Amino acid sequence: MTARTTGTGQPILSMRELVIAFDTPDGVVEAVNGISLDLYPGEVLGIVGESGSGKSQSWMATLGLLADNASTQGEVTFDGHNLLDLDSRTLNTIRGQRISMVFQDPMTSLNPYLDIGTQMIEALGTHDRSLNRADARRRCVEMLDRVAIPDADRRMRQYPHELSGGMRQRVMIAIALLNDPDVLIADEPTTALDVTIQAEILDILTELQRERGMAVVFITHDLGVVAELCSRVCVMYAGELVEVGPVQEVFEDARHPYTLSLMRATPRTTNTGSSAADDRAPDAAKRAALYAIPGAPPNMRLRPPGCAFEPRCRCAEPRCRTEAPALEALSDQPHRHKACFRTGSSEDLSRELLDVG
Ligand SMILES: Nc1ncnc2c1ncn2[C@@H]1O[C@H](COP(=O)(O)OP(=O)(O)OP(=O)(O)O)[C@@H](O)[C@H]1O
Ligand SMILES: [Mg+2]
Repeated sequence: MTARTTGTGQPILSMRELVIAFDTPDGVVEAVNGISLDLYPGEVLGIVGESGSGKSQSWMATLGLLADNASTQGEVTFDGHNLLDLDSRTLNTIRGQRISMVFQDPMTSLNPYLDIGTQMIEALGTHDRSLNRADARRRCVEMLDRVAIPDADRRMRQYPHELSGGMRQRVMIAIALLNDPDVLIADEPTTALDVTIQAEILDILTELQRERGMAVVFITHDLGVVAELCSRVCVMYAGELVEVGPVQEVFEDARHPYTLSLMRATPRTTNTGSSAADDRAPDAAKRAALYAIPGAPPNMRLRPPGCAFEPRCRCAEPRCRTEAPALEALSDQPHRHKACFRTGSSEDLSRELLDVG
């Protein structure tokens, strides 16, 4: 079953039954277990879930960035191509130009031995060979200005270690946006930064997203950030999508026990430094005391036969142990999806799952 937005139109990128497995000395790790999802032009899609749930790998697969021990099945369609089958030359025409990615740690993406200007011009030049050097330089300076880097001309001549962490992340965003991509994948882009810098960078990203109308996939642990920035949210658990829908509806009326648990396990004060994010934090998180999800995520080598969340779920039924629920539309709200046999309201689930009213 494919998750959809409430909106209409053609998706810009579609995942179908994406499976990612890693071959390790201890056996095969099934990191992503058959996810299907459409990304629409101009939407901001949040991806949340505990550490190890497959958030990063599922999007790294779209850019051919998986480790050598990975194998994939399924399809990721973009512009008529299945990105999983593409040769590296064709993939290079898409990577950085049509789909860009920003990672948590800019030091791993920036080359420490090259100045910022050289790296930016290279990123631009790879895709636009018609540009002469002066024009390319001007475009890079403009882009640095755009991400609020003061004194951009001088920064172009500096090396990554001469910049603060926040500056480096701005440079990464500038590089990612130089070629005006249709899709930006931002993987925990502010997690390593302090609170005020986080808020500034998120503001810049939001502004650029609106200005350019690109689709943004925002991978984060921070539900407050999702509430503030995203229009739709995908909740992942153990390599699967367990709940997908418009952010406000999912946060106010979660229908999967894991979504509810995750919200209850999130402190009310988010670290965006923004009170707006607090005000829009999930209702359940506002009301309840902090909840610790019992147990731990499953070992991906020994995936249980039924629902992967069953061992931690207080409202599991006997069949949850043997049958895996598919991601399906809610009967009362067909634009929302969940993978759980349970029906009933968020309140019912909440009472049962968390022992609170
Ligand atoms: N090269 C690899 N070999 C074996 N397992 C791997 C490899 N790369 C990733 N994994 C496993 O894939 C699973 C999914 O990883 P992924 O990085 O997508 O998690 P995540 O949801 O992004 O977590 P986090 O929030 O910590 O970033 C994890 O269990 C991870 O250990
Ligand atoms: Mg990750």
